[in-house]
Amino acid sequence: MQEPELRIVDEELEKLLKEMARLYRYDFTAYSRESLKRRINRVLLLKKIPSIAELHYQVTTDPDFFAYLVEQITVNVTEMFRNPAFFHTLRQEVFPILAQEPFIRIWHAGCSTGEEVYSLAILLQEANLLNRTLLYGTDLNPHVLQQAKSGLFHVANLKTYSENYLQSGGTSSLSDYYTVRYNQALFSDELRQRMVFSVHNLVSDQSFNEFNLILCRNVLIYFNRDLQDRVFNLFTESLPAGGILALGAKETLVHSTSKDAYTYLNREQKIWMKSGSASYAGKKI
Ligand SMILES: C[S@@+](CC[C@H](N)C(=O)[O-])C[C@H]1O[C@@H](n2cnc3c(N)ncnc32)[C@H](O)[C@@H]1O
Repeated sequence: MQEPELRIVDEELEKLLKEMARLYRYDFTAYSRESLKRRINRVLLLKKIPSIAELHYQVTTDPDFFAYLVEQITVNVTEMFRNPAFFHTLRQEVFPILAQEPFIRIWHAGCSTGEEVYSLAILLQEANLLNRTLLYGTDLNPHVLQQAKSGLFHVANLKTYSENYLQSGGTSSLSDYYTVRYNQALFSDELRQRMVFSVHNLVSDQSFNEFNLILCRNVLIYFNRDLQDRVFNLFTESLPAGGILALGAKETLVHSTSKDAYTYLNREQKIWMKSGSASYAGKKI
């Protein structure tokens, strides 16, 4: 069915975004307008709100409604071993580099409900690296992080996840890592013990540690060029020379002000290495 026509006027949207930033310190002014309009329009229809002026009123007077709106305008779609070829490349080309470190720190920026974090933890376990790794999962939305912490995923998705796992080069069976309770799969404590989930907003928060690998996949597509540059600066500050940055299939740092700080590790899978490492003879972008 075709989506009903968008009812949002540009000036009204700008006013709403500025008010949200002022009142709640959640700044969406540098997000792609097309996606924001689509998502806000959906909320107008779902909640039967007649106008953006009315939505504006509800946002400013009801913090719970604001929290609901934030969840609705950020896209949380994710899956385990999303793009298996990417995870396969991590195993083949990135793990040997990580294996040289005595202790490994990994940051999943914009991790949503955590499927990407669990996927990587499983592959690290199989490479015998998990026991010296900490995986940090961050997102601006506290609700998705609650779900990530629980380690519970719906059984309906397990068939696809198992196929993705095998295509990623998994060496055992995905079912070795979870137990099923009713319609939920609970992933093992051994994996969860190596994970830290916390709220972090890429628009406004600072770097909080140094990492050997940063994954920020399918997040930057929603940001304008200036905000992407801010986030790349944040990542550059958070990586040592030789540190690795992985983006989503539709994302690149080629047009960013940070591009000269990196060389390609794998062009097809959007994986870069921060320059300055003596151990890697990378190619300039
Ligand atoms: C489409 S999901 C990507 C999940 C996972 N990385 C993947 O590729 O499957 C995008 C996530 O980015 C988060 N996000 C959006 N803006 C953010 C921001 N400013 N700071 C941190 N996370 C953000 C959203 O809440 C959402 O959970």
